[in-house]
Amino acid sequence: MRAPGSAAVLYRAVTMTEFKPGLEGVVAFETKIAEPDREGGALRYRGVDIEELVGHVPYEKVWGLLVDESLEPGMPDPEPYVLESPSGNAPSDLQSATARLSSEWKLGKLVDIDDDQARDDLARLSATMMSIVAQSARGADRPPVPDDVVEQGDTAAEKFLLRWRGEADPRHVKAIDTYWICTAEHGLNASTFTARVTASTGADCGAAMSAAVGALSGPLHGGAPARVLPMLDEVASTGDPAAYVRDLLDRRGRIMGFGHRVYRAEDPRSGILKRTAKELESPRFEVAEALEEAALAELQRRKPDYVIATNVEFYSAVVLDVADIPPDLTPAMFACSRVAGWAAHILEEKRTGRLVRPSARYVGPPARSLESVG
Ligand code: COA
Repeated sequence: MRAPGSAAVLYRAVTMTEFKPGLEGVVAFETKIAEPDREGGALRYRGVDIEELVGHVPYEKVWGLLVDESLEPGMPDPEPYVLESPSGNAPSDLQSATARLSSEWKLGKLVDIDDDQARDDLARLSATMMSIVAQSARGADRPPVPDDVVEQGDTAAEKFLLRWRGEADPRHVKAIDTYWICTAEHGLNASTFTARVTASTGADCGAAMSAAVGALSGPLHGGAPARVLPMLDEVASTGDPAAYVRDLLDRRGRIMGFGHRVYRAEDPRSGILKRTAKELESPRFEVAEALEEAALAELQRRKPDYVIATNVEFYSAVVLDVADIPPDLTPAMFACSRVAGWAAHILEEKRTGRLVRPSARYVGPPARSLESVG
């Protein structure tokens, strides 16, 4: 007869020996915030479809939905903060300045503070991180925009643009607000995982947020829209999207902005961003649509059994271009939107989590003497 609990022991033993490169398919946490709906191609924040949010509530209320499960009060206005010596590298400014806020604001460790305090720390940090990116984008050469000018803005997107440029074109505001809402949260991506792992150690919220920024700064996570625009430029110059696609695929290249690790249907964010690019009369819309059509047709012809659809990066690039966002600023723009998802996950980790400490399988040299190392 088996001892009680032996099935669980056996199950643990089996799963512990499995190795999944990139942790693909491994369930590391349970969450009530959001998780992409693989087959249906929908994205819901706390159960609400993002289609219902875009154009109806501004980003700062979506922050409230994700973090507090309530639109009110939402993300507050940033506190007065001057970014010293912007470096010209927005993700680096953001990561270091956010880490410094931990000590400047004397943030308590997550293990030592209650949930309300953690929520308030995350709210202050989120708003101020947006201000940091705007000041970094403005650069060291221009004086900061006075606070009373920034305060004339109604929404977070407007205030962001005012702080950056001293003015906020309504088309740019709509482009940024839509992009931020569409990319505010997306389940357990690399930066959110990083934020949760850091939070699980009981570190303070500034440490968890700045760690997430570091993970996002890699081109495989936050930098893809920058690679879409050169592709559109090339197609615009030849005027032959089908030939461009055929040539790229013949060389075994990848068409940026197509395919997704999670979705096996159209990425729901792509349709919203496409609609927005059209409404905002993007000068690149026509060429983007022609390239999309050619890419989908050719990918379908070559891979009839594998769904490769348009992903979020393709029309994100077009929408951010409407707002005159330079490609090298796109990772920092992504970080601005993702502060909501990170804050929600850090809080959830504090409430429900456990120190994250997975295992690695040792495949190095067997035990040996120091002399044998040479
Ligand atoms: N262009 C051309 N071929 C593509 C492709 C793309 N965008 N996406 C997938 N494929 C092909 C691969 O070449 C591969 O073909 P093969 O089996 O003949 O080698 C097959 O489809 C499966 O590719 P794989 O990378 O295993 O699929 P995946 O679903 O895990 O890939 C991505 C997801 C995002 C990595 C992939 O679609 C990609 O590289 N896209 C382009 C980059 C991009 O847009 N990144 C942003 C993602 S939000």
